[in-house]
Amino acid sequence: MKRYFFKNLCLLFFITAQVIFCTAQTKSIDQKVDSVLKLMTLDEKIGQMNQYNGDWQATGPITKDGDKQTQIREGKIGSMLNVTGVDHTRTLQEIAMQSRLKIPLLFGQDVIHGYRTTFPLPLAEAASWDLQAIEKSARIAATEAAAAGVHWTFAPMVDIARDPRWGRVMEGAGEDTYLGSLIATARVKGFQGKGLGNTDAVMACAKHFAAYGAAVGGRDYNSVDMSLRQLYEVYLPPFKAAADAGAATFMNSFNDLNGIPATANKLLQRDILKGQWNFKGFVVSDWGSVGEMINHGYAKNNYEAAMLAANAGSDMDMESRSYIKNLNTLVKEGKVKTAVIDEAVKRILKKKFEMGLFSDPYKFCNEEREKQQWNNADNISFSREIAKKSIVLLKNEHQLLPLSKQTKNIAMIGPLVKAVRDNLGFWSYSWPDDTARIVTLWNGVQNKLNNTSNLLYAKGCNINDNNKDGFDEAIAVAKQADVVVLSVGEAPDMTGEAKSRSNLHLPGVQEDLIKAIMATGKPVVVLISAGRPLVFNWTADNVPAIVYTWWLGTQAGNAIADVLFGDYNPSGRLPISFPRTEGQVPVYYNHYNTGRPAKNDSDVNYVSAYTDLVNSPRFAFGYGLSFTKFDYSTIKLSKTKLTATDKLEASVIVTNAGNYDGEEVVQLYIRDMFGSVVRPVKELKGFQKIFLQKGASKEVKFIISTNDLKFYNNELKYDWEAGDFQIMIGSNAMQLQKAAVEWAK
Ligand code: NOJ
Repeated sequence: MKRYFFKNLCLLFFITAQVIFCTAQTKSIDQKVDSVLKLMTLDEKIGQMNQYNGDWQATGPITKDGDKQTQIREGKIGSMLNVTGVDHTRTLQEIAMQSRLKIPLLFGQDVIHGYRTTFPLPLAEAASWDLQAIEKSARIAATEAAAAGVHWTFAPMVDIARDPRWGRVMEGAGEDTYLGSLIATARVKGFQGKGLGNTDAVMACAKHFAAYGAAVGGRDYNSVDMSLRQLYEVYLPPFKAAADAGAATFMNSFNDLNGIPATANKLLQRDILKGQWNFKGFVVSDWGSVGEMINHGYAKNNYEAAMLAANAGSDMDMESRSYIKNLNTLVKEGKVKTAVIDEAVKRILKKKFEMGLFSDPYKFCNEEREKQQWNNADNISFSREIAKKSIVLLKNEHQLLPLSKQTKNIAMIGPLVKAVRDNLGFWSYSWPDDTARIVTLWNGVQNKLNNTSNLLYAKGCNINDNNKDGFDEAIAVAKQADVVVLSVGEAPDMTGEAKSRSNLHLPGVQEDLIKAIMATGKPVVVLISAGRPLVFNWTADNVPAIVYTWWLGTQAGNAIADVLFGDYNPSGRLPISFPRTEGQVPVYYNHYNTGRPAKNDSDVNYVSAYTDLVNSPRFAFGYGLSFTKFDYSTIKLSKTKLTATDKLEASVIVTNAGNYDGEEVVQLYIRDMFGSVVRPVKELKGFQKIFLQKGASKEVKFIISTNDLKFYNNELKYDWEAGDFQIMIGSNAMQLQKAAVEWAK
């Protein structure tokens, strides 16, 4: 017994010394990883591939089998999700330090649009078309989360989403591949800051790999069936951009892609991600997605699921427990090669080394830092900045907006005027001081007006029921006012994971409330809060001013008041097309032309159109108004006939012809007129957000090379083809100046 104890002690000493030795600066991280790997038993390796939830927050079913603390001590867990706060993470990390090899845990969390300070929904931020601001928002989120012990965020979601029925449109950057790729890069850079290993950097996770946003019918978790060409051209580029920006991890997705669940998809994970893209990070499954392959009808049981997922390159199993229960047997039976396990574990350990956790497992457990970030005034003030930039002005007849700060009586009506937590939207965190911290619309307007106006209030109705009992009071309040601000929308939990909807209309009786208030004859401004494009045709036709406010986060009320009263001239542009009705979905700007394209919205004569609805969206991709007006000159081209090495310079002069200083998003689209495969009617290829004082003009120039003309041909070769091209520049996908060029090889 004594001898046994002594032997073990020596072994422990040897191992600890090895680990310490390995972490010495002289070795490269890969060498350090190899040294640790050599010390590991098969079970310890499998432990690294196992991730559990921390029990108190969950977006899926939790399997409560076994004491997690004991398992951490036994080296059976590599990572935990939903454990935050220096206190909690330290407690668990201390237990990990009692394990044989003292391999630190990784703590992951869905830090999607802020942690302590909440920023606008990712889709709303995308409406800012401001890459620097988007990067900064991710930077701050990372800083706050890292100060609370988080190592890893499950963001950015870079799924292209063309279907607003899908509840997760709120979490991405909208429908466009080009814009989505730039935003993916900005977010990865923001989260990872100056690099892993800094105490304010968290690992990013590009998700959901892949094509999750193309779920049939917009129903979450549903199947995806698409051509490889479409996959390569539309859905993969934002992932590639994230990988190129250095995203530390990827998450696979719940859906099957052309019949193979993404979790067990070799083409995606081994061939494309780890092969063609040479991705060096690791892949985590989505919540339970390894085990869910049984429901897909792809794996017979968790044993088979573990085999399929591991062999296909899923390195870590989030919460399905298929790996921890089956990989050992699978290796012993030769169904999963040791090399597969080693590869996965190396990838995971490498990130732990890069994060600096082997040198200091408590690196992110600093109470002081956590406290400092708790009420960081700069972060809060930036939350107002980016919230303002995310607001989209959809309509402003007779320049009803901005409102005068001298307006005597303002009626604030609607179910969202005094909403508090709703402003944060889905994927946000509740804190005990939320009520004091979050600026409601009511408070924002009060702050702005300093009691100069008389503010009246009526709720009018709820968000989503049929009760009109509050209408009379709302009408009476409206009648006393000089102007009505009417705040309507979705409930924040109507978008998000598992929040797909077949009905996109303004919920409940809210549009009836708008009609009733409009009938008073008072000027009405409608504010719409939502996580997706909604349908509100009567409002769009009849209400003079409409502002789309999405969910804007902690400073929502102040940001909206800044726009309402003209302290900020709105500059947001839609990152996704707004349908006229659900039957038009999916409606997106970069569609093909068809053999029988409609000439215009009234053309229905044996063309590709609906007989009961026009083809154009209600509001186009890229659309958004300003208080001022921007005029565009015709396009100036440096050449109209080009060859392979030529660069085309296309420019317009934009003039601020209105009465306010303001920002415009000048957008460049290109159409390849004839191709070896049909090409979209237009594709965004560039944009510039410019500021112009009233009366000022600026030349906006785009340099176009053959790189911008490339696409995936039928053999999946990425190249350009000589021929005719249309160059389009303008303020949104439907208002464009056009010019033609010819490009020869
Ligand atoms: C499931 C979601 O699909 C994924 O995006 C998220 O990161 C995980 N749950 C963890 O919460």
